[in-house]
Amino acid sequence: MELTAEEERVLSGEEGQTRAKMMEILVALGRVFGAERLIPIRSAQVSGASYKTIGPYGLEWLESLDARAVVPAVVNPIGMPRDRWREMGIDRDFARKQEQVVLAYERLGIRLDCTCTPYYLNITEYGDHIAWSESSAVAYANSVIGARTNREGGPGALAAAIIGKTPDYGLHRLENRRPSFAVEVESGLDLSDPALYGALGYIAGKQAGNRIPLFTGIRPTKDHLKALGAAMAATGAVALFHVDGITPEARIFHFSTEGLERVKVGDRDIHAALQEIPVDAVALGCPHCSDDELATVARLLEGKTVRIPVYIFASRGVIGRNEPLVRTIERSGARVYADTCMVVSPALDQYGSIMVNSGKALAYVPTMCGAAARLGTTAECIAVATT
Ligand code: F3S
Repeated sequence: MELTAEEERVLSGEEGQTRAKMMEILVALGRVFGAERLIPIRSAQVSGASYKTIGPYGLEWLESLDARAVVPAVVNPIGMPRDRWREMGIDRDFARKQEQVVLAYERLGIRLDCTCTPYYLNITEYGDHIAWSESSAVAYANSVIGARTNREGGPGALAAAIIGKTPDYGLHRLENRRPSFAVEVESGLDLSDPALYGALGYIAGKQAGNRIPLFTGIRPTKDHLKALGAAMAATGAVALFHVDGITPEARIFHFSTEGLERVKVGDRDIHAALQEIPVDAVALGCPHCSDDELATVARLLEGKTVRIPVYIFASRGVIGRNEPLVRTIERSGARVYADTCMVVSPALDQYGSIMVNSGKALAYVPTMCGAAARLGTTAECIAVATT
C-alpha cells in the first residue's frame, strides 16, 4: 500500500501516539483487503458506543486515546437515554459507565447524536466516500443515497474519523458495486407498511449473504428502503442493494438481472415472517424513526392508552423537531427515547417477548435481549399494545 509523505509522518508518531495507532489500523485494514491507497472521507459513523456491547475493555481502550476527529463523525446509539435513564429502569452503575463512554467519545471530537440514522443529519451525499459502521446505516448510505462505504468495524470507523481517510477497497470502488443476486418480488403484493419490507428483507438477507441484491417488482419509499436494508444487513451481511428504477445507481446504470442467481418472494413468504406469539412489550424505531414514522405512530396512538410498555426510539434531532407528535404519543403512556435503542439498551432485557415492526429487530432481539420477537406492521403493533 502506498502512503504519502504526510501519512508516513503520522504513522511514525510525529503527530502523537493516538494518530499513529489510528493510522496503523487503517494501513492494516488496507493491507488485508488489498487497497493501494487511502482516500479522503466526508464523514464517519462509529459503532460500539453502548456499554452493554463494549464493556470494560472497550471503555478502557477509548479512554486511552488522545486525538480528535477531523471530519464530521457521529456515534451509534448508546445503552440509555442520557436524560431519562432512571425512568427507563437503568441500573445506576451501568449509567455511570455509559456516561464515561460518552465522555470518552466527546473528548475524541465525536458528535453525540447517538443514532443509527446518521443519514438524517446531512453528512453525506451521492458519490461521497464515507466510513460508517452501523450495518443498517451502511446499507442506506450505499443503496439509497449512493455514497460509498464498507461496513466498518467500530475501531476502523474511529480511525477513519481521526485521520479523515479510509482504505480504498470494496464498496469504495465502482466496479465492486454491481448486483450479484436477483430478488423477484411477486407483482401486486401489498407492501404498504415498512414492516412488510422488513419481512421481505428478513427473507432476502438470508438468501443473499454478503452479495449485492437487485430487486425487481417493488416501488418502495425511503422509509421502506430503510426497513428493507436494515433487515438484510441483519439476517445477511448486505451492505449495498439496488432496486430496479428506484435507487440511484440502478437508475444511472440500468442493471439487468440477466445471468444472476435469482429467488422469488411472494405473499405467503412475507406473511410467514409475521408469526404469532404473545407480547410483553412493543418496540418501534429500528433503525431510529424518521419524521414520517413518528407521525404515523402519533396518529395511531392519538386518544388511546397503552396496556403494555411501548418504546419508540428516534434521534435527538428528529424528536426535537417533532415535539407535538411526541406529546401525543406520550399522552398514551408510550415513551419516545433518544440516544438508545431496543437492542443496545439493557432496559428491554426484562421482557420475554417483544413485538417489533422491523426485520432487523426481529433478527437481533432474540440474541441481544434474550426475548422472543414477533414482527407486525406498525398498526398491528399499536393495536396489540392498546387492546
Ligand atoms: Fe439502530 Fe439499534 Fe436497530 S442501533 S438499527 S435501532 S438495532
